[in-house]
Amino acid sequence: MCGITACVGSERTVPTLLTGLDNLEYRGYDSAGIAIQNGDGLSVFKQEGKVSDLAERVRRRDPTATTGIGHTRWSTHGPPTDGNAHPHTDCTGEIAIVHNGIIENYAQLRSMLKARGHELTSATDTEVVPHLVEERLDQGATTFEAFKDTVDQLEGSYALAMVAEGGDTVYATRDGSPLVLGVGEEANFLASDVPAFLEFTGNVVYLENGDTVVMDADGYEISHRDGASIERPVREVDWTAEDAEKGGFDHYMLKEITEQPTALRQTIRGRIDPDRGSVELETFPDGSFADVERVQFIACGTSYHAALYAVQILSNRGVPADAFLASEYTAGVPPTDEDTLVVGVTQSGETADTLNALEMARERGLETVAVTNVIGSTAARTCDESLFIRAGPEIGVAATKTFSSQIVTLCCLAERIATDSTDHCPSETFVQAIEELPGMIESVIDRSTAEPAAIAYSDSDSYFFVGRNEARPVALEGALKLKEISYEHAEGFAAGELKHGPLALVTESTPVFAIATGSNEERMVSTTEEIRARDGPVISVAPADSEIAALADHNLAVPETHPDLAGVLANVQLQLFAYHTASLLDRAIDKPRNLAKSVTVE
Ligand code: F6R
Repeated sequence: MCGITACVGSERTVPTLLTGLDNLEYRGYDSAGIAIQNGDGLSVFKQEGKVSDLAERVRRRDPTATTGIGHTRWSTHGPPTDGNAHPHTDCTGEIAIVHNGIIENYAQLRSMLKARGHELTSATDTEVVPHLVEERLDQGATTFEAFKDTVDQLEGSYALAMVAEGGDTVYATRDGSPLVLGVGEEANFLASDVPAFLEFTGNVVYLENGDTVVMDADGYEISHRDGASIERPVREVDWTAEDAEKGGFDHYMLKEITEQPTALRQTIRGRIDPDRGSVELETFPDGSFADVERVQFIACGTSYHAALYAVQILSNRGVPADAFLASEYTAGVPPTDEDTLVVGVTQSGETADTLNALEMARERGLETVAVTNVIGSTAARTCDESLFIRAGPEIGVAATKTFSSQIVTLCCLAERIATDSTDHCPSETFVQAIEELPGMIESVIDRSTAEPAAIAYSDSDSYFFVGRNEARPVALEGALKLKEISYEHAEGFAAGELKHGPLALVTESTPVFAIATGSNEERMVSTTEEIRARDGPVISVAPADSEIAALADHNLAVPETHPDLAGVLANVQLQLFAYHTASLLDRAIDKPRNLAKSVTVE
């Protein structure tokens, strides 16, 4: 997720662009840049780091302009460097482009452009765009035609904005990535999201997929793919910039829970082929894991629960695997041999305990892979290889969408490892279920009864979560999420362990969440009966027509899916339960006490 912005017509275009980028930093930031048009040609300022670093440099030069575009980047192709920062330009430096999204056919377009003598200097997918525009301009097209013809060649998802030397016009389009137009009195604006320009205008036009905009100081024109002009309604927004960043949600956490379908579509994009039942991972061609005998996962907190989930998925495919809490890994080094693959699972890529454990594995000569959300993170830079979960930036301290994206990325990795290193045959039903997962999460969120359940059980003494196999890490995660944001006591157990101790705590005011994931339902029914016999209320997380749902006091329904993926759906219900419980208790949901998003100390 990146942020783009544009402004035409204001004497204060430069500070306006920088303010816009500042307001979009919640969309991720590892580099930023602007391209401005000031009568002397196009000037580009861009660099790695925060928007404030860029702003300081620009202010020192004090340029003026009335037209410009800007970008804050969250890397998806190529590490965060000055060269990979947007805007990107063509060979002549006369066309500058900013982009949010992924251009899927960029590799093909890049080779074609290189063969025709273009010099592409970055590792991004975006850089092909200004060069394609340059080609069409050389062939005699107008700037608008060149922009449109270029967009026609792109596959993937994008919001793009372009300025060309010598013109006070911004050209922009969207398909699959957001773009909003701001209609001001003397200036007009474009951005990925309203907060970018909200302090300059509250009149907005929400652009639709396939819309192209040509905008200057006097106005704008929107056309559709077929070239026909379109009128879109101008709406007035009455939110504050902060409300707008949260997209109308009360908390980032709830916004991020509802973003999971989008995040997962990004996670799996280009990685699965449901027709062939195969998984293709960009950094790991077929056969990459042929020699792997055992996998060790290293992680902390929620990421550790994702790692435990992956252990189960690998075990189901006959690959020996273990998950270690990173802080324990360094204390008592587990046995390894040269065919052990070590996978660090870390959303931020900056967790000190995980980095230390990965360093230890590297010192022992083991191959390391980072599964992370942050391209330029220390974990990504330290490990031999990286696999990115592509969840987009997560602001809420409690990990939600990154957990789901970690699990799905790890499921793809597990399928690849098992296919390469054992006689496991790629499973069409599994891969098809991965493809269907985002839509299923949408329906879970839309129909969830987690809020009434949270109200019904809000004055409980403690909350327990139980599950077997892949539902066990979900039980652990359900308890962690509830305790960290509601400050209520919650514990997760393997369901089979209940009778070995925790059952002594079960009373009528300790609801127990029984998580059924298809592969273990019969045994979960007996667990439910054990709890009911001690008067413990049972909240099942199971398909609506299941036996366990019929026995429970309340069911949080999940659709039937492949048993290896059912835990992801169950977890969404538990995220919502935790959220609503914390909300009833008026907790600081996005910033729970004593916790930080990234734990960079041991
Ligand atoms: C809980 C949570 C933490 C993190 C843990 C590891 O909601 O977010 O438990 O999972 O601190 O963080 P990363 O994944 O960044 O290594």
